[in-house]
Amino acid sequence: MGNLKDQVVLITGASSGIGAATARALAAQGARVVLSARREGRLQELAQQLGERAAYLPSDVASLEDMQALVQLAKARFGRVDALFANAGIMPGSQMSQIRVEDWMDMVEVNIKGVLNAMAAVLPDMIAQQRGHILVTSSAAGLRSVPGNAVYCGTKHFVRAMLDSFRMEAVAEGSGIRTTTLYPGAVKTELLHSIAPSPEKDAVEQFYEQAGLDPEGIANAVVYALSQPPEVDVSDLVIRSIREG
Ligand SMILES: NC(=O)c1ccc[n+]([C@@H]2O[C@H](COP(=O)([O-])OP(=O)(O)OC[C@H]3O[C@@H](n4cnc5c(N)ncnc54)[C@H](OP(=O)(O)O)[C@@H]3O)[C@@H](O)[C@H]2O)c1
Repeated sequence: MGNLKDQVVLITGASSGIGAATARALAAQGARVVLSARREGRLQELAQQLGERAAYLPSDVASLEDMQALVQLAKARFGRVDALFANAGIMPGSQMSQIRVEDWMDMVEVNIKGVLNAMAAVLPDMIAQQRGHILVTSSAAGLRSVPGNAVYCGTKHFVRAMLDSFRMEAVAEGSGIRTTTLYPGAVKTELLHSIAPSPEKDAVEQFYEQAGLDPEGIANAVVYALSQPPEVDVSDLVIRSIREG
């Protein structure tokens, strides 16, 4: 296995759920983590718990400038960027017939453009150093169609197709950049908070409560992918609880 000690990993969506659990898991393995999200108080609290291995920047993935500032912070504090975990995402799910255009566009902004902004920010350094690892959180909804969550499902399919195409380009170009797409099933986080109240939301909440994984299950998968030897590319990982069919 490769060594995570002192690897510098940028994490978007680090203020809660999967991102926060991953920051803890990576720091426990000796990595240095640079935390991004909008809620400053949450980031500050987490960074304090992790100590000198962590830096944080209140930032919005919808802003390329914010993502570039994150890279600058990583380089100023830790000297370089080894990996990006592009994980920030939102899921204000609804039926298409409800025409919640603002929610649709918000998902495009965060789940699609946010990933692209973060990649655009790290790629110049990764290309120059001929080494890097980009991990993105898609979803089990990135592997099949999901009624009641069509736009979210589309954003997660985008991530899958884009990152796998990029992986092939990276191989052809010999850039030395690895990719990992994560496809979590239901995970107990704050993700459902942005769904408008409805009987369907109540049912989804109940399902997540009964069948959902703790976010540490996904964090461990990130640790696994990142700790492989340089020639091993763990391209795709599906992680579900044993209670989810
Ligand atoms: N939970 C699940 O069942 C599940 C399953 C499959 C995939 N996923 C994916 O896992 C990822 C993490 O979600 P989670 O489940 O851990 O939910 P979560 O607890 O709600 O975390 C979402 C994170 O994204 C951040 N975020 C949202 N909008 C942002 C923006 N504009 N700029 C920067 N950060 C933003 C949030 O921070 P701030 O609000 O502080 O900005 C938060 O840290 C998402 O991509 C989600 O789609 C989750």
